[in-house]
Amino acid sequence: MAALTINGKAHEIDVDPNTPLLWVLRENVGLTGTKYGCGIAQCGACTVHVDGVAMRSCSVPLSAVAGKQITTIEGLAQNGVLHKVQKAWIDHDVPQCGYCQSGMIMAVAALLKEKPKPTNKDIDEAITNICRCGTFQQVRQAIHAAAASA
Ligand code: FES
Ligand code: FES
Repeated sequence: MAALTINGKAHEIDVDPNTPLLWVLRENVGLTGTKYGCGIAQCGACTVHVDGVAMRSCSVPLSAVAGKQITTIEGLAQNGVLHKVQKAWIDHDVPQCGYCQSGMIMAVAALLKEKPKPTNKDIDEAITNICRCGTFQQVRQAIHAAAASA
């Protein structure tokens, strides 16, 4: 049994401690906004925050996150107000098919927390998420817009 706090709510999870966090979120907790892409920490579709840090949940076992605070895309907006990254994404029409986008947004939200005004180099180094629709230019524009907003 592992105790997790997910989007501010306490959960007791009773599965094999080696189960990847991604599957705990999707199968046990029912939060399907976090996506499965590669399963080997390469694509970023499964990115969530663990104690505020972006992590690829397909490659994090439940045992490594017991007692930690997990935030998923469903918990990014606060009190019905979208996060500034979500707002910038809408303003810049970033998503195409959308599959990679929850992971992309979570990675960007963590980057802006650490570096509120990232350079293009910072963005290239930190945002290594893969988008098969090729939204990378819009992603970069939206990151700068979010960084410039209040
Ligand atoms: S599904 Fe986790 S990085 Fe691709
Ligand atoms: S928007 Fe389609 S994979 Fe990124």
